[in-house]
Amino acid sequence: MLRGDMASWAGLGRALSACCLLGLFCSAALPFSLQGANEKAIINERPIIGILAQETDFKSFQKYGSSYIGASYVKFIESAGARVVPIRLNRSDEEYDKIFSSINGILYPGGSVSLETSEFARVAKIFYNKALEANDRGDYFPVWGTCLGHQLLSVLTCGEDLLTWTNTDGFALPLNFTPDAKNSGIFQDFPADLLQQMASEPLTSNFHFWSLSVQNFTNNEKLRNFYKILTTNVHNNVDFISTMEAHRYPVYGVQWHPEKNPYEWKNSTGIPHSKAAVKVTYYIADFLVSEARKSNHRFPNKSEETNALIYNFNPVFTGPFSSFDQAYFFD
Ligand SMILES: *[C@@H]1O[C@H](CO)[C@@H](O)[C@H](O)[C@H]1NC(C)=O
Ligand SMILES: *[C@@H]1O[C@H](CO)[C@@H](O)[C@H](O)[C@H]1NC(C)=O
Ligand SMILES: *[C@@H]1O[C@H](CO)[C@@H](O)[C@H](O)[C@H]1NC(C)=O
Ligand SMILES: *[C@@H]1O[C@H](CO)[C@@H](O)[C@H](O)[C@H]1NC(C)=O
Repeated sequence: MLRGDMASWAGLGRALSACCLLGLFCSAALPFSLQGANEKAIINERPIIGILAQETDFKSFQKYGSSYIGASYVKFIESAGARVVPIRLNRSDEEYDKIFSSINGILYPGGSVSLETSEFARVAKIFYNKALEANDRGDYFPVWGTCLGHQLLSVLTCGEDLLTWTNTDGFALPLNFTPDAKNSGIFQDFPADLLQQMASEPLTSNFHFWSLSVQNFTNNEKLRNFYKILTTNVHNNVDFISTMEAHRYPVYGVQWHPEKNPYEWKNSTGIPHSKAAVKVTYYIADFLVSEARKSNHRFPNKSEETNALIYNFNPVFTGPFSSFDQAYFFD
C-alpha cells in the first residue's frame, strides 16, 4: 500500500464515523466493528479482560507455580482502561462458564506450549467456542490472540496446525498493510502518521519460530472464510500473516507482540522502545479495551469480582533469568 493511501483512508474513516454520529446514512463504507445488526449500543466503562494462563514449561519458572502470565500483558490491558482477571488452568467447566459470563473479553498470550495437547490450548478452545456462540446471539465478546495465541486462533478455526518454520526470533519489523487494513476494526482509530511509521519502520516485535504463511492460509477454506489478512511480513522467504481479524466476529490475531515495546527490557534488537513503538502498543490496547466496552458481562456481585481480579497476586521479578521482566504465577 502506498503511504499516501494510508493517510487518506484513516482520515476518511474518521470522517465517516463522525457523519454516522449525526445520523446520516453511510453504512456501506463503515469499519467492521461499527456494523453488525446484532450489536447493541452498550458502553461498559468498567471492562474486565481475562488473560489465559499457560503451563510453566521452562525450568526457571517451575518453582514459582505450575502456570504463569507475563506481567506485560496485564500492564498492556491496564494501560488503556480495563482490569484483568487471570484465567487459570485445570478448572471445571462450571467455573469457566461463570468466568465467561463475568468478563468482557479474553486474551491468549504468547509462549511456547503445544497448540494441540496443552491445557492452555484446551481452555482456549472452551472460551473460543463460547465466544462464537455468544456473538451469534448478539452477546458481544472479543477474543484476542498474540504470537502463540494468534497461532492458536488459526488452529481453533481450522482444526489443524498449518504453521511453517520461519525462525523469526528477535526481530523488529515494519508491517506490509493489505488493502483490507483500510476497513479493519484494529487499525481504524490509529493516527495516519503512526500507520505510515508502522509501514516504514521496524515497530513490531517478533519472537516466533513458526508462522502462518499466506500460502497455507489462502489454501485453507476455513481460515480464508473466517479471517481477513490485515498485514503480512516476509522472513526467511516465507510471506506470513502478522495481523488478522475475523470477517464476522470480534476475533483478532497478531503474530507480533504489542505488549513488549513499553514493558519488556530484555537486551534484544527485537524489542523497539521508540516513542512511535510505544504509541503502537497504546493504540492496540485502546482498540482491544474499546471492544471489551461493548460487552455487558459482569460478575454477580462485588465480592466475586474482587476475588477474581489479578490484584490478588503479586508479580515476581523474573528479568534476570527469563525473557519476561515480571510474571504472575498460579497454582
Ligand atoms: C493440571 O492437572 C494435571 C492432572 O492433575 C496435572 O498433571 C498438571 O500439572 C496440572 N497443570 C496445571 C498447569 O495446573
Ligand atoms: C504449509 O506450508 C508448508 C511450507 O510452507 C508446507 O510444507 C505444508 O505442506 C503446508 N501445509 C498445508 C496443509 O498446505
Ligand atoms: C546488549 O547486547 C549487545 C550485543 O550482544 C551488547 O553489545 C551490549 O553491550 C548489551 N547491552 C547491555 C546494556 O547489556
Ligand atoms: C455473590 O454471588 C455468589 C455467586 O452467585 C454468591 O455465592 C455469594 O453469596 C454472593 N455474595 C454476596 C456478598 O452477595
